[in-house]
Amino acid sequence: MSPLDWPLHGGRAAPLLARFGLSADTPVLDASANLNPLGPPAWLAGWLAERVAGLADYPDPDYTEARAAIAAHEGITPERVLLTNGGAEAIFLAAALHAGQHPGRPAAIVQPSFAEYARACAAQGLPVVEVPLAPPGFRLDPDAVVAALGEARLLFLCRPNNPTGGLLPRGEMEWLLELTAACDCRVVVDEAFIDFVDDEGGEGQAQEALTPLLARFDHLILLRSLTKRYTLPGLRLGYLLAAPETVEAAASLQPAWSVNGLAAELVAPLLADRDFLDRTRRWLAVERPRLQAGLAGLGLEVVPSRANFFLVRHPEGRVATRRLLPALLRRGVLVRHTESFPGLDGGWLRLALRDSEENDRLLTALAGALADSGGEDAP
Ligand SMILES: Cc1ncc(COP(=O)(O)O)c(C=O)c1O
Repeated sequence: MSPLDWPLHGGRAAPLLARFGLSADTPVLDASANLNPLGPPAWLAGWLAERVAGLADYPDPDYTEARAAIAAHEGITPERVLLTNGGAEAIFLAAALHAGQHPGRPAAIVQPSFAEYARACAAQGLPVVEVPLAPPGFRLDPDAVVAALGEARLLFLCRPNNPTGGLLPRGEMEWLLELTAACDCRVVVDEAFIDFVDDEGGEGQAQEALTPLLARFDHLILLRSLTKRYTLPGLRLGYLLAAPETVEAAASLQPAWSVNGLAAELVAPLLADRDFLDRTRRWLAVERPRLQAGLAGLGLEVVPSRANFFLVRHPEGRVATRRLLPALLRRGVLVRHTESFPGLDGGWLRLALRDSEENDRLLTALAGALADSGGEDAP
């Protein structure tokens, strides 16, 4: 299997264990998927068990209660909310909306970023232009945006960005939204990881929130994922926030009952669980700086991250970095390769922030992998 055929997403140990000749039941610490290690909330199992009978009913096709709960949580009206089957469905809906409204016009994607933007554009037959984020800082260069946009009428941007962890500050977002308003280019900001943004002095997340900008910019679409925050990737739950007309147009492209009834009913109790979010913030405040310092202490180059993952590379470059993945897997730790990210080409690894004990295991495994001389190359 060539590295280009490796899994496009984290959380997929089996193909990589097979590729490196390791047994399928090797116990693996998964630092490849960026999920909250505190979840799912402890009450969830009982809650689901009590509602199994509800599976006999169709969900409310308008998801009225879930949308009202999200609207109250975000401080906006329910007409601005569309419930989706994970953030992934929202990405595909945004691409489909664009394809219907601006046939043949390209979409721009800030890269390297989440693979589903390109897949969604390909599914709609959209030409794509890339707006590159250049290493080592991976900052968005305003001139690069202006140069790349051209004929594009849709821009995908991830905030904080997967896999670099950088967050385009709200002030720069406003600049970008003004620029794109002038050229009639819709902006999709995927904030799947926004709940993990460091909360500087308790104000960080509130200051960075883009929700208030929805009232000013009709061409802004915000995407969120509840599956990351509450560790429910198997359940699928996300939402799209936009102008009411955009929500209505996106809803018309969505299959009826796209979100299952249990997931929809779960939205309100999840958002009401303040304790879970408080514990998540406390975990981030301790573990993020600790893991960052540990990684740097091992001599790795670490991209500063506002999210719950770090992009790292070996100081000796691409070949040495690629060797770390199989060396870590042999030590029972799965990390995310970057073979499929444009501009990274396997020269970096993405490591998810886990709980304290697992972060220690990751650091110990890395120390061992770094000490290995040679080893098998990843390709
Ligand atoms: C940036 C980004 N957006 C969206 C998603 C998809 O989220 P969901 O599981 O809610 O579909 C992911 C999943 O990895 C992601 O990394």
